Amino acid sequence: MSNKPTFDVITIFPDYMNPLNLSLMGKAQEKGLVDIAIHDLRKHSVGVHNSVDDTPYGGGAGMVMMPEPWGKAIDEVAAAKPDLTHTLIVLTPAGEKFSQAMAHEMSTLDHLIFACGRYEGIDIRVTDYYRDAPGFNVREVSIGDYVLGGGEVATLVMMEAIIRLIPGVLGNPDSIIEESHSIMTQSGEVLVEYPNYTKPAEWRGLPVPEVLLSGNHALIEKWRAEQASARTQKLRHQGS
Ligand code: ADE
Repeated sequence: MSNKPTFDVITIFPDYMNPLNLSLMGKAQEKGLVDIAIHDLRKHSVGVHNSVDDTPYGGGAGMVMMPEPWGKAIDEVAAAKPDLTHTLIVLTPAGEKFSQAMAHEMSTLDHLIFACGRYEGIDIRVTDYYRDAPGFNVREVSIGDYVLGGGEVATLVMMEAIIRLIPGVLGNPDSIIEESHSIMTQSGEVLVEYPNYTKPAEWRGLPVPEVLLSGNHALIEKWRAEQASARTQKLRHQGS
């Protein structure tokens, strides 16, 4: 990666993105490890009513976001970084499912543009247009099989998962290496982690398992592996 990773978020609710200034993502910005900019789609609204949406051709419920404001907003953020390849991420419940593998892949990219749709989504010609536009890659992404009010929360989820993987963001990079071995399979499937304990050694009558106090690292490793596999079976395959 030749450049500092840059994230541009386009939304009609810029304030929704305030959590980007907190905690891990706020620190990543302060340390100069990432550039994040939020853009108000309404700046590019059209007509006397400053609209960004209209009724769907062919009829049906709800409103559809018009292509013109999106085209202008996306062109503007792309034009500001003419040397970069732009990955346009369109948040939609119909997209490919976000995963840890995708987070790793995206953490290596130079320029991510998040398009937060609202209502019944964005006129599909926006996706179609940028799929063929030079300098662009387009990904339609869902964070899960449920319908949110818009792409803002999905963008926050994706950005947190991506940004923590950028070198220098986490205080202890070993935790990324460890989690990639202990939590994720090669294909990105989740393996539930072994249970963690800290002080005190007994809390409300619940003791820390003896083996963790034994100092026997081989035994501890074996116990953790057994616990992880039992918990994966219980939580992921049977429900708790
Ligand atoms: N917009 C609405 N629901 C969504 C979801 N599940 N993932 C991404 N974007 C969305």
